[in-house]
Amino acid sequence: MGINSRKVVVVGCGFVGSSSAFALMQSQLFSEMVLIDADQKRAEGEAIDISHGMVFASPMKIYAGTYDDISDAAVIVITAGANQKPDETRLDLIKKNSRIMKSIVGEIKKREFEGILLIVSNPVDILTYIALKESGYPANRVIGSGTVLDTGRFRYELGEHLGVDSRSVHAYIIGEHGDSELAAWSDARVGGLPINDFCELRGHFDHDASMEKIFDHVKNSAYEIIARKHATYYGIAMAVCRICAAIVRDEQSIMPVSSLMQGEYGLEDVVLSIPAVVDANGIETVVPIELSEKELAQLKSSAEILKKIIKENS
Ligand SMILES: NC(=O)c1ccc[n+]([C@@H]2O[C@H](COP(=O)([O-])OP(=O)(O)OC[C@H]3O[C@@H](n4cnc5c(N)ncnc54)[C@H](O)[C@@H]3O)[C@@H](O)[C@H]2O)c1
Repeated sequence: MGINSRKVVVVGCGFVGSSSAFALMQSQLFSEMVLIDADQKRAEGEAIDISHGMVFASPMKIYAGTYDDISDAAVIVITAGANQKPDETRLDLIKKNSRIMKSIVGEIKKREFEGILLIVSNPVDILTYIALKESGYPANRVIGSGTVLDTGRFRYELGEHLGVDSRSVHAYIIGEHGDSELAAWSDARVGGLPINDFCELRGHFDHDASMEKIFDHVKNSAYEIIARKHATYYGIAMAVCRICAAIVRDEQSIMPVSSLMQGEYGLEDVVLSIPAVVDANGIETVVPIELSEKELAQLKSSAEILKKIIKENS
């Protein structure tokens, strides 16, 4: 059937799916968007509501559909599944959401879909691994949103701390999208300067304390938001949009999506985030950035945690 690079499908139209659909409509990346949810009425309601904003953006076809509508899509964004409740970790969601992921990928697999699967539901690394195995697609076509959002939060916090546009901050959160994630401080740059040099330019000299505080904020921000408003969705919606743009515009942008490790840092058969070049084929190549010994050990321990969970749930 081929790929229509102007068509996207969003499976799961809760907080994250509907916010992503709303952001995608405004992005003007696509001319056709299919919304699918186990609750068909919900998908219909979102499609109608979002369509009413179209006159203020640009024309496109938005409708609640079925899996028969997916075959020619460029990207299927999967956000279906339970979200974290206050005091729940992302890993607590595993049983329920892995069942949901398997059933969705089972439906997709029955059709001739040749595009990219973008997994957003949590725990995203585990569910991306499951989607990869269940689909049998090549690893480049199955991507998790990974730590793209966490990295966005990290760059935002650093931008605020240093009084600089967060887009001029190049720094990554890597590993699990969850409690074992880490900041790749040794690779962080602001305007080309190593981060500590830029901090000193701005009058900040207590590096260890600031690093700890900023990383804690980033790591715990989902918990902070959930404690206040019960779910997080706007930040991830923008991250979904950004990843879709890199795919459909064949941008070769570097972003820390989660992907299958195939020997990088000695890691195999586990899905987690390290920066990768993203283009029309999904993952073009991963970019194993330089890590300090401590960071490498943290990354390996994050991988071990994920591997253990995969083993326990397979
Ligand atoms: N990756 C990230 O950075 C990130 C950020 C925020 C949230 N999330 C995750 O996104 C997921 C969705 O969160 P939410 O707040 O939108 O939850 P939500 O409860 O608001 O929405 C989930 C939706 O999935 C639908 N659904 C359930 N089973 C389905 C199935 N088999 N097929 C189709 N649809 C189905 C439900 O009907 C519901 O509309 C959660 O797992 C959450 O943890 C990920």
